[in-house]
Amino acid sequence: MVGVLLLLLLFPLLLYIAAPHIRKMLANGVCASTVQLPGKVVVITGANTGIGKETAKELAQRGARVYLACRDVQKGELVAKEIQNVTGNKQVLVRKLDLADTKSIRSFAEDFLAEEKHLHILINNAGVMMCPYSKTADGFEMHIGVNHLGHFLLTHLLLDKLKESAPSRVVNVSSLAHHMGRIHFHNLQGQRFYSAGLAYCHSKLANILFTKELAQRLKGSGVTVYSVHPGTVHTELTRHSSFLRCVWWILSAFIKTPEQGAQTSLHCALTEGLESLSGHHFSDCQVAWVSPQGRNMTTARRLWDVSCDLLGLPMH
Ligand SMILES: NC(=O)c1ccc[n+]([C@@H]2O[C@H](COP(=O)([O-])OP(=O)(O)OC[C@H]3O[C@@H](n4cnc5c(N)ncnc54)[C@H](OP(=O)(O)O)[C@@H]3O)[C@@H](O)[C@H]2O)c1
Ligand SMILES: *[C@@H]1O[C@H](CO)[C@@H](O)[C@H](O)[C@H]1NC(C)=O
Ligand SMILES: *[C@@H]1O[C@H](CO)[C@@H](O)[C@H](O)[C@H]1NC(C)=O
Ligand SMILES: *[C@@H]1O[C@H](CO)[C@@H](O)[C@H](O)[C@H]1NC(C)=O
Repeated sequence: MVGVLLLLLLFPLLLYIAAPHIRKMLANGVCASTVQLPGKVVVITGANTGIGKETAKELAQRGARVYLACRDVQKGELVAKEIQNVTGNKQVLVRKLDLADTKSIRSFAEDFLAEEKHLHILINNAGVMMCPYSKTADGFEMHIGVNHLGHFLLTHLLLDKLKESAPSRVVNVSSLAHHMGRIHFHNLQGQRFYSAGLAYCHSKLANILFTKELAQRLKGSGVTVYSVHPGTVHTELTRHSSFLRCVWWILSAFIKTPEQGAQTSLHCALTEGLESLSGHHFSDCQVAWVSPQGRNMTTARRLWDVSCDLLGLPMH
C-alpha cells in the first residue's frame, strides 16, 4: 500500500526529471546546413514571437538582412533589438504588416519593393489558431483570411522580386492539423457553419495546396517553395483556447521549444540541394506525408482561382 503510494508520488517526479531527455528524443530534426547568408535578404512574417522569432534569430546569426514583418511594430522593435544584441547583426529591421488587412499588405509590399533590390527568402510564418468567429478588414473569416489569403497576396506581390533574386525560396509554415482540413468552397468564410478548430485546419490545408500549385507555376524560375509542419511547439499560438493552453502547459516540458520548432523552416530555407523537392511538405527536417486532400490538384487550382477572385488579382 505504502509502496504504491510512494510510486504514485515518485512517478511524476521521475517523469519531470526525465523530461529534458524525452523532449530531446521527441524533437527530431535539426537543420544541419552551415550555409551563411551575407548579402541575402529575408522577410519573415509574425517574427515577434514563437517560431518566427527563433527562425529570424538564426537567419540573422548567419548574416542575412532580416525584415521582421509584424502587425505590432513596438513588439517587433523589442525583438529586433534583442536579436541585434545576441547576433551582433544590426541589419534586423521591423516593418508593419497586418495580414488581416489587404491595405496593410499592399503598403508593406510597396515600401519593401521600393527599398530593396532583392528578396532571397520569404517565410510565411504568421498564423492564428482557434480564434472566435471574426473577420478581417476585408470581411474574410480570420483563419482563412490571415493564414491563407493574407500570405497569398503577400507572396503574389513579392513574386517578381523573388524571381529576380533566384535562386530564392518561399517557406510556408503549415501544420499537421491540415489532415483534418477540407476546402468547402460553399463555406470558405465559415458563413454557413463555423468551428474555430476546423477553421484552423482548413486554412493550414490551404497553405499546402498553394505550395503545390505555386511550385508547379514556378517550375524553371529558380524560385522553389516548401510547406512545413514545425512540430508541436510551446508558443503563444494557443492564446485563444484556454483548453489548449492548459494542455500545452501540462505538456510544456516535453514538446518542442520555439528554437526546436524553427528547425524545419530553417532546413527548407537553407539546405543545399533541396530544389528538386520544391512543392513538398516537410516535418522534422524530412519530407512528410500529406493528406489526400492536400494532394488534390483540382482543389489546388480551384482554390487558387477563388483566392485571386477574392483578392481582386488577375488569374494567370
Ligand atoms: N506551435 C505549434 O505547435 C504549431 C504547430 C503547427 C503549426 N504551427 C504554425 O507555426 C506558425 C507560427 O506559430 P507560433 O506557434 O510561433 O505561434 P505564435 O507564438 O502565436 O506566433 C504567431 C505570430 O503570428 C503573428 N500574427 C498573428 N496574426 C497576425 C496578423 N494578422 N498579421 C501579422 N501577424 C500576425 C503573431 O503576431 P502577434 O504577436 O502580434 O499576435 C505572432 O507573431 C503558425 O503559422 C502556426 O500555424 C505551430
Ligand atoms: C544587450 O546585451 C547586454 C549585455 O549582454 C545586456 O546588458 C542588455 O540588456 C541587452 N539589451 C537588450 C535590449 O537586450
Ligand atoms: C503559401 O501559402 C499562401 C497561402 O496559402 C499562398 O498564397 C502561397 O502561394 C504559398 N506559398 C508557397 C511558397 O507555398
Ligand atoms: C479532388 O477533389 C474533388 C472535389 O472534392 C473530387 O471530386 C475529386 O475526386 C478529388 N480528386 C482526387 C484525385 O482525389
